[in-house]
Amino acid sequence: MKPRRNELAPPSGAMVGPEERREILEKIATAVRGCTRCRLHATRIHAVPGEGPIDAPVFVIGEAPGRDEDASGRPFVGAAGKIFDKGLQAVGLPREETYITNVVKCRPPANRAPKADEIASCRPYLLAQIEAVRPKVAITLGATALRGLLGHPVPFKEARGQAIELGGVLVVPTYHPAAVLYNRRLEVEIRRDLRLAARVLISGRARHIADRHRRDKRSHRVNARRRGPSQGAKRSARRSR
Ligand code: URA
Repeated sequence: MKPRRNELAPPSGAMVGPEERREILEKIATAVRGCTRCRLHATRIHAVPGEGPIDAPVFVIGEAPGRDEDASGRPFVGAAGKIFDKGLQAVGLPREETYITNVVKCRPPANRAPKADEIASCRPYLLAQIEAVRPKVAITLGATALRGLLGHPVPFKEARGQAIELGGVLVVPTYHPAAVLYNRRLEVEIRRDLRLAARVLISGRARHIADRHRRDKRSHRVNARRRGPSQGAKRSARRSR
């Protein structure tokens, strides 16, 4: 399934180092904490920008902060977060190595679903965060997270269970972990999807290493050609004359 519009910028080619990207991420967080773009700012205690290392290979996207997250300013620290952390651990993707955020950075009153205009107001923050972190894999939790990332509705059931290519990032949609609180069987399904994300990450890494190896070999050959024949080759050419 192809996204309609590919708005995730591929790595720009400009050599922006981790320090600079960390600064960009911090600026986004500051903007989120002071944001008044939509009505949700009026009822929040804390905005929840997200957290994780700048070089996180996995970028996790939830729906919106709940009560615990609103109180603490940190994503996925409540019951759903605990279920999700266990799932990550089970497939060998520790939370500390992922960047975790939400499509909407402020808690909707009484945990209602975020509205389309709230998602649209918050989306530039999400896209900027992805561009700063440059993950290999993005895991979306639930239909709202998937729609929020892609920017348009998609049939969740069709999308689930696959990796969707989006601007150089492989998007793996799964259920929202809060759904497990109502249907325990979904925990197995989420773990299956997380395993897919882990596999995609490993094969993506293998491809990246192979590409780099090929590039290195090519540049070695080009440089050798530029340098001309080695002293040894010149000597044996003289001897054979
Ligand atoms: N649910 C979400 O979608 N995000 C959180 O941060 C917490 C619960």
